[in-house]
Amino acid sequence: MARITKIVFVALLVTSLLSSCIRNYKNPGREYMPDMAHSTAYDASTLNPVFKDSVTNQKAPAGSIGRGKFIYSIANTPEGYELAGSTIKNPFVFSKEEIDGEGKKLYTVNCAICHGTEGDGNGHLPSIDKFPQPPSYFGDALANLPEGKMYHSVMYGKGMMGSYASQIDHRERWLVIAYVRSMQNAKKGAGASPVSDTTKISK
Ligand code: HEC
Repeated sequence: MARITKIVFVALLVTSLLSSCIRNYKNPGREYMPDMAHSTAYDASTLNPVFKDSVTNQKAPAGSIGRGKFIYSIANTPEGYELAGSTIKNPFVFSKEEIDGEGKKLYTVNCAICHGTEGDGNGHLPSIDKFPQPPSYFGDALANLPEGKMYHSVMYGKGMMGSYASQIDHRERWLVIAYVRSMQNAKKGAGASPVSDTTKISK
């Protein structure tokens, strides 16, 4: 008798297991532990009676600054460009390794396609006539360009060059500028007159 009970039990078990595999895919099935399927917290995109606007995904309050984020308060105007040139200084101290490592990498990824790996303006896009050639970093126009103006131009774009504000953050912008500066200084060689260089390099 015990043997028959066992057989019946196993048969029932196998049938129920198999039947749970064969199902109608349009039917959501039965929830046997609803608490686990439905979170008691509000889901991100659902209505929310707690907030006035009924939105669960609340926006950050106006004027809040994300951790590690930076607000650039100089306006995108010709006056702002001049102001940046005379007042904005690099707040970071970079090591030579950082400039030659991460700085060079940021430059290669974001800038070299137009400005060229050497910074002479002979990048790939101008070479195939897909973009006007940018001025060389070593020519009269840019060799002594204050770093504040460089920052402003990377932030907002300049002429045909678009803004890089969303691609590279505050620190990365200064790091890539420090790399541009290091290329310029290398070209000037020893004994060159010092440029308006605010990039601090740790020993
Ligand atoms: C799509 C091509 C392109 C890319 C990519 C590009 N630039 Fe430029 N850049 C230009 C052109 C063109 C100019 C000349 C703009 C003008 O004076 O009208 C320029 C000008 C500049 C200047 C001079 C700005 C000034 O104030 O006169 C700097 C500095 C500069 N770029 C840095 C960068 C850096 C750093 C990057 C990468 C983060 C970069 N550029 C990426 C095309 C590019």
